[in-house]
Order: sequence, then structure tokens, then C-alpha cells
Amino acid sequence: MMDWTDRHCRYFLRLLSPTARLYTEMVTAAAIVHGDHNHLLRYNDAEHPIALQLGGSDVAWMTAAARVAANYGYDEININVGCPSDRVQSGQFGACLMGSPDIVTACYTAMRAEVDLPITIKTRIGIDEHDSYDFLRSFVEPLVAVGCQTFIVHARIAILDGLSPKENRSVPPLNYERVYQLKRDYPDLTIVLNGGVQTLAQVDAVLAEVDGVMIGRQAYQNPYFLAELEQHLHPDWPLPERRAVVEQMLPYIVSEIAAGERLSHITRHMSGLFAEQSGARAWRRTLSENAYRDGAGIDVVIAALNAMPMAA
Ligand SMILES: Cc1cc2nc3c(=O)[nH]c(=O)nc-3n(C[C@H](O)[C@H](O)[C@H](O)COP(=O)(O)O)c2cc1C
Repeated sequence: MMDWTDRHCRYFLRLLSPTARLYTEMVTAAAIVHGDHNHLLRYNDAEHPIALQLGGSDVAWMTAAARVAANYGYDEININVGCPSDRVQSGQFGACLMGSPDIVTACYTAMRAEVDLPITIKTRIGIDEHDSYDFLRSFVEPLVAVGCQTFIVHARIAILDGLSPKENRSVPPLNYERVYQLKRDYPDLTIVLNGGVQTLAQVDAVLAEVDGVMIGRQAYQNPYFLAELEQHLHPDWPLPERRAVVEQMLPYIVSEIAAGERLSHITRHMSGLFAEQSGARAWRRTLSENAYRDGAGIDVVIAALNAMPMAA
């Protein structure tokens, strides 16, 4: 998720879920072809399994970007066919590519010939007036024909003209049934449902129908949910205390600050950790009022912990 799942966020989420597959923010193939690879792509080894999400539609650039990603050791490359922003549409990629399956298929085929990594597609269930199962199927079919195995489907259409990206994550209604139908028609594919999943009961219901669930906003805004989910799926895994997770972050924060990073760039992803716990406000406020200051270090994080009652 853009501006959210950067490398610091992912390192933090990994502590809460040893097995979840983590996805980068969307990185454009153009940025990789023209830009600073290390700045765009570096990550901590602890983040595995990690997927790089690529945005683009130029076959040569997508293929070159896939090569770079493979060299960086990513576990999966995911092609973005879901983002509705104007900037992305003017670059002719993201959700508008649902209307051009030939382009996505050409990118997929060339990338797959270039690298030995799983290449997956993240898509919507439709775009604009193309709000039907047949349309979704007509997008998926040519990709399946060239060997694409895994589709992550955000279970609402994207409205490409008239809704902001934020509205496009809430206004078009969710339609899980369309994703379930895809799995019924293509039982050999790996189908992952995304959109609106917030509870363990919802996860169970989705996993009864498809192969996986992708969780976006709930994982960011209430990251402890990921730990509860990890334990729900792997009951032997001991659920860590929230405070212990913060303590596990401290050595990472120390080394990142020593390398020149600002504390706030790391702690901004941690502010939801105590969501709905007593003291959550004191935690968030201590971080937000102090972490951005020049020279701020782990003393701010420790002060934020101490600002909460011990039970939290
Ligand atoms: C701040 C933000 C940034 C996002 N950036 C991306 C992105 O870069 N690539 C992508 O495929 N989806 C992106 N999304 C959409 C989410 O991946 C997800 O499809 C959507 O939020 C629905 O899932 P959820 O209800 O679990 O959040 C973003 C969502 C948010 C809130």
C-alpha cells in the first residue's frame, strides 16, 4: 500500500506475523528502470516472504524491472491491475489494464521468460460499466492460457472516472460471490480475496471458499490483528504481548537511526499497535509529538510505552 507498506512497516508487521506474505508499495517499472534501485527496492532479510508489486504496462520496462527484482531476492512479483488513480491511468496501467488483457498477458509472458519467480496479478472484479462475472473471466482467461496461476482479487469494481482512489476502496460495493465463482470455475488456480476483511470470522468464511485472503487497511490500522490471525491459523504460535513487539523493534530502530533514518519514519507505522487498548491515545500522542524532532531516538519510544498503564 502506497505510503504505508514501506520497509519499516513491513519489518514491524513481520514481528506480528511470521508467515504472512508481505507486499511492498506499488513501485513503477519506470522508476526502477530510471531510478535508484537501492532506494526503491532494498529491504531487510527478516521481511521474507516478500512480494514486490510492480505498476506498468510497457513490456520491456516490466521485464527489466522483473530482472532487477529477482536480483534483489524478492519471493514474488505482483502486477498491479487494481489502482484507479489518475496518475496511474495516464501512465496506462493499474485498473484500466483490466480492459487490455492482451497487454497484461504480454507483460506476464515476457517477465516469466526473464525470471524464475512466481508472477501474480492483483486485479479488481470489474471497471466502470464492465461490472459482470463475464468481464472478470474475459480478463483472467488469456492470462490463465499462458500459465498465470495466482490472482489476488479486490472484490469491488473500480470507477475510473469520478471517484478518488480512497472512494474506490469503499464506494463500489463488495461482491465476494464473484470471486468465489472464479475459484469454482478455475479450481486449479490460486485465488486470493481482498477487500473489507476485518475479523477472524470473516477470514474463516473467505478461506472456506478460496485459497487465501489479503488484508490491507485492517493490517495497517490495527496491526495486532495480524498477530491474532497468525495465532488463529497456527495455534502453536505464542501470541506476543504488544509491549514485547515494541521492545523487539528497538534494536532495529537503533540501527536505522545510526544509518541516518528519522525515528518518525519508523514509528508512524506503529501508532495503531495499541488500538482499542487503554492508553492507546497516550502512546500515539507521545510518538506523534516527539518522534519527528531532530535527534529523536528510542527514548521517545520507551517514553510512549511508559505513558500507558502497565496492563496495555
Ligand atoms: C493508503 C493505501 C494505499 C494503497 N496502495 C496500494 C498499492 O500500492 N497497490 C495495491 O494493489 N493496492 C493498494 N491499496 C489498496 C489495498 O491493497 C486494498 O486492495 C484495499 O485497501 C482493499 O483491501 P482492505 O479492505 O483490506 O483494505 C492501497 C490502499 C490504501 C488504504
